[in-house]
Amino acid sequence: MTRNAIILAAGMGSRMKSKLYKVLQPVAGKAMVDHVLTEIEATNVDHVVTVIGHGADAVKQLLGTRTEYALQAEQLGTGHAVLQAQALLGTYAGTTLIASGDSPLFTAATFNQLYTEHEKAGNAVTVLSSKAPDPFGYGRIIRDVNGNVEKIVEQKDATPAEQAVDEISTGVFVFDNQLLFAALAQVKNDNAQGEYYLPDTLEILKAAGHTVGAYQMADFTESMGVNDRVALGAANLAMRERINEKHMRNGVTLIDPTSTYIDANVVIGNDTTIEPNVYLKGNTVIGSDVYITSGSTVIDSTIENNVTITSSQIEESIMREGSNCGPFAHLRPKSDIGQAVHIGNFVETKKVTIGKGTKVGHLTYVGDATLGEDINIGAGTIFVNYDGVNKFHTTVGDHAFIGSNTKIIAPVAIGDYALTAAGSTITDDIPAKAMGIARSRQTTKTDFWDRTPQGKKDKGQQ
Ligand code: UD1
Ligand code: CA
Repeated sequence: MTRNAIILAAGMGSRMKSKLYKVLQPVAGKAMVDHVLTEIEATNVDHVVTVIGHGADAVKQLLGTRTEYALQAEQLGTGHAVLQAQALLGTYAGTTLIASGDSPLFTAATFNQLYTEHEKAGNAVTVLSSKAPDPFGYGRIIRDVNGNVEKIVEQKDATPAEQAVDEISTGVFVFDNQLLFAALAQVKNDNAQGEYYLPDTLEILKAAGHTVGAYQMADFTESMGVNDRVALGAANLAMRERINEKHMRNGVTLIDPTSTYIDANVVIGNDTTIEPNVYLKGNTVIGSDVYITSGSTVIDSTIENNVTITSSQIEESIMREGSNCGPFAHLRPKSDIGQAVHIGNFVETKKVTIGKGTKVGHLTYVGDATLGEDINIGAGTIFVNYDGVNKFHTTVGDHAFIGSNTKIIAPVAIGDYALTAAGSTITDDIPAKAMGIARSRQTTKTDFWDRTPQGKKDKGQQ
């Protein structure tokens, strides 16, 4: 007996009014179809087939080898979509879970529960249903006087009495695999949309003498299908609440969980505190005892323990233990900020390695550079790394002191304990313990005032 799963992801999603195919729309920074597959992977399945059509290449690129694929070249309905998986799954004896790539909130626990209910009841098919506060747009579960499931009726085919039913089909089913494909062969498209509906298989199986059932889940939110941007917003909100609750239960303090935006794949250690209006995106990993203040965005970065981020933006970078940045720092890709390093206000870094204890305090740009330990970089220092065509690299040795307003025209190597005089434009290497000074000498005009018109007038009056 095999356990299979099929994810329907071939639709265009025209109600989304987007260039991006519907199942690729992100919820908490992760494509909807990826959420569905992740949860299915967490159940016990032997084969997963994703039915693709619109955006097939993009979906394949995203999900890779985690699933097999069946191509639905023309989108003739959900029943027709499932039929495309027959070549891959048709011969197996076992059960098949079907889920839609546009319903991102289902959990593995719910899928497992549906499997259990299905097996317990010995049904040919069990549909996952729920009571919707506003059932409009969903297929309705139609039951007979004894409460047995008779069929599912789509919104556009429903009579007024059927439209009044608030128990909806979530679009998730568990089927006996062989009976699924046998029933699909009999599905017709004589309905309001001229489509081959998967839900019609219930009526077909019932007529053939099989038992069909519904398992009604308690939480409607989880069953939300996302067809337009309003639902996408609602799904993001629900997913965010779920993610934030998980982190809080793990020991993370969110000062205001309603305005903290954490993507699905982000990992955070305990005793970390996050102020409102912080975005943690992509594959970000945050350690313990980190403090992140309001207005910070961290994307695809690693933040080690005891780091403080003050209203800053960090992209594809690492901040090592005990370092800090901001307010208003911008760490651009490939910034490796060493232990206990201080990156101050209005500092931008890019493609740098900065050694332990080094300070880059104020109004500075550090790009394409390797900095040693315990360096002091003065205010307004610019690493001049780009001539308009090529990028050049700078190294600065341990304990060096870069005076304020130094321009370092790369490529330059500055040795350990070396100094630059404030205001210098450094074009040549500076050996260890030497000082580089490159600025014109000051001239002081002591008779300056007397030579101004006002000065001359003052003198005449004396
Ligand atoms: C569908 C169900 C409805 C259920 C609702 C739950 C049908 C006919 N209707 O309606 O009973 O209450 O989901 O959210 O099944 N797809 C394909 N190929 C196709 C058509 C659709 O792969 O030819 C995919 C879509 O990409 C989508 C899923 O199937 O992921 C559902 O299609 P959609 O058009 O969103 O159906 P709904 O109108 O939401
Ligand atoms: Ca849908």
